[in-house]
Amino acid sequence: MKLICPICREELGPGDGGLICGNRHSFDRARQGYVNLLTVQQKHSLAPGDTREQVLSRRAFLEAGFYGPIADALIRAAREWAAEGEILDVGCGEGYYAARLARALSLPLTGVDISKEAVRCAAGKYKDAQWLCATAAHIPVADGSAGLITSLFALTVPEEFHRILKKDGLFLQVLAAPDHLLGLKSVIYDRLVFKEKDTIPRLPGFALVESRPIRFSFTVEGEQVQNLFSMTPHVFRVGKAGAERLANTTKLTDEASCVLNVYRRVEETAESILRG
Ligand SMILES: C[S@@+](CC[C@H](N)C(=O)[O-])C[C@H]1O[C@@H](n2cnc3c(N)ncnc32)[C@H](O)[C@@H]1O
Ligand SMILES: [Zn+2]
Repeated sequence: MKLICPICREELGPGDGGLICGNRHSFDRARQGYVNLLTVQQKHSLAPGDTREQVLSRRAFLEAGFYGPIADALIRAAREWAAEGEILDVGCGEGYYAARLARALSLPLTGVDISKEAVRCAAGKYKDAQWLCATAAHIPVADGSAGLITSLFALTVPEEFHRILKKDGLFLQVLAAPDHLLGLKSVIYDRLVFKEKDTIPRLPGFALVESRPIRFSFTVEGEQVQNLFSMTPHVFRVGKAGAERLANTTKLTDEASCVLNVYRRVEETAESILRG
């Protein structure tokens, strides 16, 4: 995938042990193989994005196959809608879904995440893809260079995705539904509050072509209970009593409830901007 410099937006090419642009801004490739293209100005904290603990918990949980049905649904949709070209996964985490998707479709993959720990973990395992530390708000990728963008339980930035996708490119989005992981929530919270959530958002510059619910139940035991908890944002919200109740939970049956939205890039018209 064609990369651009996060400082001056000139094309990036191979340089001494990393990448370099025409204005001699250079970026080292880390030992694990990823490149850090996040500038200091784009960082709002010292270590933005998911922590090492979250990344490792997610890796252990996903590798055990509990969320395999989500990967399968993603692959099915990408095939049915004839995805082609290069894949860009935004907020890629440790790479589980995107690596499987790219392998199933035999398409080249670039994964982007603001967390250095996440891309380090992804690059360590999936050597045949390109992994970048960068922000979804300014993705260092050239205009029109992706055929398929995915955002799985991560950010959607319609203007950036529209810029990066080629004509008629696809965007696959997975969002958690309000009833996702009710079993976990009922252990960690005293009271369940249902928040309204738009799980099929309108996106300027995109036409929604399909929306599918993904629902399945699964049972976690032992360490996987804690892994499931640690990979969710609840880990930062929960009180001491809730965390203790979870620590004492040895087995949990829960239901994953998500929505898979398939969008196709359309030329932006005044109407689509207004609708968005
Ligand atoms: C809930 S995780 C999902 C990870 C992966 N897509 C998965 O489903 O396994 C959200 C990811 O978004 C990343 N993230 C958060 N803010 C971001 C940003 N501004 N730009 C890029 N990635 C971001 C986090 O570091 C984290 O890895
Ligand atoms: Zn530059």
